[in-house]
Amino acid sequence: MIPINKPQIDENERQEILKVLDEGILTSASNSGGKRVQDFEGLLADFLHVKHAIAVNSGTAALNASILAAGIKETDEILIPSFTFVATANSVACTGAKPVFVDIEKDTYTMNPLDLENKITKKTRAIIPVHLYGHPAKMDEILEIARKHSLIVIEDACQSLGSLYNGKQTGTIGQMGCFSMYASKVLTSGEGGAITTNSDEYAEILRMIRNHGMVHGYDTRIIGFNMRLPEISAAIAKTQMKKIRLMLEKRTVNAKKLGELLNDRIARKYLVLPQDDKRVKYNWYLYTVALINNRDRVKKFLNDNGIGATVYYDPPVHQTPYYSKFHNGKLEVTEWASKTVLSLPVHPSVTENDIELIASKVVEAIKS
Ligand SMILES: Cc1ncc(COP(=O)(O)O)c(C=O)c1O
Repeated sequence: MIPINKPQIDENERQEILKVLDEGILTSASNSGGKRVQDFEGLLADFLHVKHAIAVNSGTAALNASILAAGIKETDEILIPSFTFVATANSVACTGAKPVFVDIEKDTYTMNPLDLENKITKKTRAIIPVHLYGHPAKMDEILEIARKHSLIVIEDACQSLGSLYNGKQTGTIGQMGCFSMYASKVLTSGEGGAITTNSDEYAEILRMIRNHGMVHGYDTRIIGFNMRLPEISAAIAKTQMKKIRLMLEKRTVNAKKLGELLNDRIARKYLVLPQDDKRVKYNWYLYTVALINNRDRVKKFLNDNGIGATVYYDPPVHQTPYYSKFHNGKLEVTEWASKTVLSLPVHPSVTENDIELIASKVVEAIKS
């Protein structure tokens, strides 16, 4: 099976892990984090051209810490897409605030700025755009709306490390950006995450939140949790940072080739490829197409032929048993997307032969 994603682990990660084990310092409860946590944070901040990167133990923790740092209260509403991994919604709901679902656009699968503005009420405090599949959300429009209504913008960049919007790294455009290092992501530490910000004030609060609100020992000043990234995970993440450009480049080569091969005259009647937009550069976390007919049949055919084509996300969050209790009304494009999207593997371990096989099987499935 060609998996949908695969961690890129080599001898360098192995050696860094062994060093941590030999040194015997597996974590640090200091405010600034362990040695490798700090190394990783420095490398990530440099890569993203952002002032602060704060490592935590998941993307969910990154979102949760940002929402707490933004001072969100139980009476507040936060605007999020429903077409996302449920962690975006859970991070809001667990603070007691209300997630309000915004529809997406067909061309990017990200937040529709028009629907976003329509959903603003007196209670709205923040917007969490999600750069789904690595496609940057329309940040110019979203920031403009946020400025007009004095809202905080927290980017869910869990899938978009390395994606650019107007030449800027996603996750560095709003007040805070949240990244995941889950095993499937473009850069992984197994589990892990990070928050980025250019604000010294947010950075200070975030460092406290990840460590029980403490600064110097047992002096809890605000509510916080154990969101610390262990040193073994940081060792993996730090090593991965050194090859991030190479890994992204390989994804780009694979995605370009796949796009060319899928450009079949007959198949294209039923197949929507990722859209080109001058404002953006994708990290190609996932190569996601829309199949106008028979998505599930095509997926089964690909899986039966050893290709790990996967659907992200069906059902969308507002149609899950828990969230459907809170949501009224249709999200037309979200519901359309959940029934048509299919993601194909383009990760760095996918070979040129694999890409040829994937493209030929997609075309064959559509034509059969
Ligand atoms: C869009 C999105 N948001 C949030 C998360 C949560 O990240 P994690 O799984 O590291 O907690 C993920 C990752 O799975 C994600 O894809």
